[in-house]
Amino acid sequence: MPVYGEFAEIYARGDYPAFSVRIAEVLPPILERFDAAPQRVLDAACGEGSFAVAMAARGVDVTGIDASPRMIALAGQRAAAAGVSVRFLCGDMRHLPFRGQFDLVTCWYDSLNYLVSEEALGRAFGSAFGALAPGGLYAFDMNTTYGLAVNWRRTECYVQRDDGGVFEVHRPRYDFEADTATLRITAFLREGEHWRRVDEQHHERGYRIEAIRAMLQAAGFAELGVFASLRDLSPPSPESGRLFFYSRRPFGAPGGLTPA
Ligand SMILES: C[S@@+](CC[C@H](N)C(=O)[O-])C[C@H]1O[C@@H](n2cnc3c(N)ncnc32)[C@H](O)[C@@H]1O
Repeated sequence: MPVYGEFAEIYARGDYPAFSVRIAEVLPPILERFDAAPQRVLDAACGEGSFAVAMAARGVDVTGIDASPRMIALAGQRAAAAGVSVRFLCGDMRHLPFRGQFDLVTCWYDSLNYLVSEEALGRAFGSAFGALAPGGLYAFDMNTTYGLAVNWRRTECYVQRDDGGVFEVHRPRYDFEADTATLRITAFLREGEHWRRVDEQHHERGYRIEAIRAMLQAAGFAELGVFASLRDLSPPSPESGRLFFYSRRPFGAPGGLTPA
């Protein structure tokens, strides 16, 4: 069963999209610090389009790509409801079908943690590099190993949501050998007098910050900054649960890894 199948609708109707809506609010002044005011943005793993639609509403030309057909369908609905135009397509962020055409590539809300091997993560970085114009920025967040192994597991089983329409339970665990967290999601969606059950297992891998930096460098990127908080741009600490990375495709850099 692929992730973000039936769960996509629960995600879109829950609190989850608020994360990237908030990022769209705070991002422009952060980008200004890096002398960037991007006009052509690619949101990789765009999900149900919350960030892409919020950026498009600010007049930016946005393309969103996601592996889940259901998320992409919901993204189209979100754009139509907001009255904005965004190109949404279904695809894998390890094999982006673009060459040198974006000023900014983004990837929010742990989406890169879903790539559970260094080979896959390096491929996604190389693919983002290839999609950027020279001088373009790559901005993303990732859960840290600490975030997945400690923060995610503070409670063995908890009710994420209970609002009369959705009852959603999360059961996290962590495999220390594979540095991989598994979140077992069981949700019940009310449909009239009945409840429909939805089950999904999401796997996220934690990577050491130095490994991520080395992979970005290997893909050709120049690091601009790594922060523990989007709001105050505080530096990472060993207890940071999530990190925000900003890198640039240098001017005059060769083409990067060719997406296979
Ligand atoms: C936690 S959601 C985040 C969605 C969106 N970025 C947001 O901020 O709401 C993770 C997303 O990553 C997508 N995803 C996971 N692996 C992917 C891949 N290899 N290529 C493209 N999308 C992927 C999933 O389909 C899902 O929409």
